[in-house]
Amino acid sequence: MIYKAFLMGADYNPEQWLASPEILEQDIALMQKAGCNVMTMGMFAWPFLEPSEGNYQMDWLKSIVDKLYAAGIYTMLGTPSGARPRWLAQKYPELLRVDSLRRRQLFGERQNHCFTAPAYREKVFAIDTELAKTFGKHPGVLLWHLSNEYAGECHCPLCQEAFRDWVRKKYVTLDALNAAWSTAFWAHTYTDWSQIESPSPLGDSTLHSLQLDWRRFCCDQTIAFMENETAAIRSVCPEAKVTTNMMYYTYDLNYFKLAQKIDLAAWDNYPVWHSGDDAAVAADTAMYHDLMRSVKHAPFLLMESAPSVTNWQGVARQKRPGMNLLSSLQAVAHGADSVQFFQWRQSVGNSEKFHGAILDHSGKEDTRVFKEIAELGSALQQLGPVCGSTTKADVAVLFDWENRWAIAGAKGPFSSGTDYKDMVQKHYDGLWAQGVSVDFADMESTFSSYRLVIAPLLHLLRADIAEKLRAFVAQGGTLVTGPYSGVVDENDRCFLGGTPHALRDVLGLRTVELDGLHAQQQVRALPAEGSTFSLPHAYACTHLCEVVECDTATPVLCYDSEYYKGAPALTVASFGKGKAYYVCTELQPPFYRDFYSRLLAQCGIARLVPFAYPPCVEVSSRAGGGKTYLFVQNFSEEACPFLFSELLQSGWTLMYGNADEDTLTRYGTVVLCSRQG
Ligand code: GAL
Ligand code: ZN
Repeated sequence: MIYKAFLMGADYNPEQWLASPEILEQDIALMQKAGCNVMTMGMFAWPFLEPSEGNYQMDWLKSIVDKLYAAGIYTMLGTPSGARPRWLAQKYPELLRVDSLRRRQLFGERQNHCFTAPAYREKVFAIDTELAKTFGKHPGVLLWHLSNEYAGECHCPLCQEAFRDWVRKKYVTLDALNAAWSTAFWAHTYTDWSQIESPSPLGDSTLHSLQLDWRRFCCDQTIAFMENETAAIRSVCPEAKVTTNMMYYTYDLNYFKLAQKIDLAAWDNYPVWHSGDDAAVAADTAMYHDLMRSVKHAPFLLMESAPSVTNWQGVARQKRPGMNLLSSLQAVAHGADSVQFFQWRQSVGNSEKFHGAILDHSGKEDTRVFKEIAELGSALQQLGPVCGSTTKADVAVLFDWENRWAIAGAKGPFSSGTDYKDMVQKHYDGLWAQGVSVDFADMESTFSSYRLVIAPLLHLLRADIAEKLRAFVAQGGTLVTGPYSGVVDENDRCFLGGTPHALRDVLGLRTVELDGLHAQQQVRALPAEGSTFSLPHAYACTHLCEVVECDTATPVLCYDSEYYKGAPALTVASFGKGKAYYVCTELQPPFYRDFYSRLLAQCGIARLVPFAYPPCVEVSSRAGGGKTYLFVQNFSEEACPFLFSELLQSGWTLMYGNADEDTLTRYGTVVLCSRQG
């Protein structure tokens, strides 16, 4: 591990303060007072690091890194590729991105460069190499923070050329390409490689396989751009460790794939707290923390979060007293080994001048926010032994970017309302409410260590994942999938001969129709007669209802209206030593809660605590060094009951927080510890 204790700190932009050396001096003393032990710097400092071409000026930053280190504060060093200097864009205009309408952007904003342009890759390689020469062996530099939130796509001539090469390498012959992309449709046959163009509203926007390959290409190109940065750093320091800050529900980038090329996962978390149901926001945030832990199956870094307001959100709502601590410790509960903020000191000008920061424009340490950060620092110290521990889950949920892209690109039946992420979230929320640990997986993952695998909307089904799931169920695992799964292959071509393709025998059914519902339309699903699964209610089905015919499957729920009244809405089949469930429709939250509470018990998966608790409470767990840590958190402004005494009587000890009188305080966090057993 590159760190020995929890990291706490912030993005720090000293280049904005070079004209005020007294501020830089004050900063270090205040960082120590706040309990910070890390700062992330350099992401937006390129004009100061290379004010003119080849004229590298690293000394000012080196002196800050030195001073921080002397004060016990590590540096995560950013590479500046996310925002290049004006002079560079002026000299190499080909690095400016071209949009899908083929318009080249002017200089401005950030993270909007071409990922392909050799001139940009070379300039980035050169400055990253210079940074590595200056800082690579610096004992204060803990980790390299590559760029800042890689994102987006470029349609410039250089990217078109690279895309053609990528496509050509993949398909080798035009015949293979035409077959894979189903180009016989609407006279789209390619007769020359030079005819390949990225999707555009001015050109091809309905060739689904082209769209899917374009997404894959953009992802690969971004990863290649990132690898060029790592190569520069490692050309000087072969041992250097790298990360990059990922984002909430990013669509463009397959983070499972990207994560293979970094040493640690890190992400930037900006939930919209205090806008309604904070428990729902907590579940949503928990899902992303779990995803970030799962992309490396290791502790991750919470690289950015807001200490107070997030000014780019519709309403810049202050985090209520206690929310900063609660939401920071939620990240820790799910596997974060750091809590970092954007940013240390509020900037004086431009679009982030009203974004929350640890130090606001007053520069004072007596603010509520500053005090709350210091309080978090002491909480992290108390929780010290938790650092580095991991999470053991019996449940894996597929969050698969290839499926996400295929579904978003498809014309119907998903177009009205059914979003891949929302569907995954519904299953996750059902599990979250039970208090069990959940991992995420994609099509490359192995499943043998899990008891329950959930693959919502496994629409695009690659042959190898079908085989893995079949083996998983045959060997005793439980699979949940559907609706509309096993419908297209990896090129987005529909399977012939019946669906869910390759899993029909596992699921014991055949799908025959898919009905779309308008927003205001619902169909009820009732417990099927004779089903032993014992779901207690009728449940509302929305957006899509798939009609299936059972072979070996038996119905658990049946539709209660429409021409498919009486047809199954949820089925179960036995296959080998395991079971496979098919959810034929999209249901509402109560269904997923009821379903998973029963299914977990049936799979022998114990909840983290054996008793019921209010829905505003989240329970999560980490384990390591022979100990298990249980985090209990209240996302409500009201105190609520929680049976701590039952846990304290059964071997758990109180490690952090107030568990008096079996009550969890408003926004409270309690951490209990026990021997692993
Ligand atoms: C992040 C970004 C930071 C800062 C922050 C403000 O997405 O990485 O540089 O802009 O948002 O919330
Ligand atoms: Zn480009």
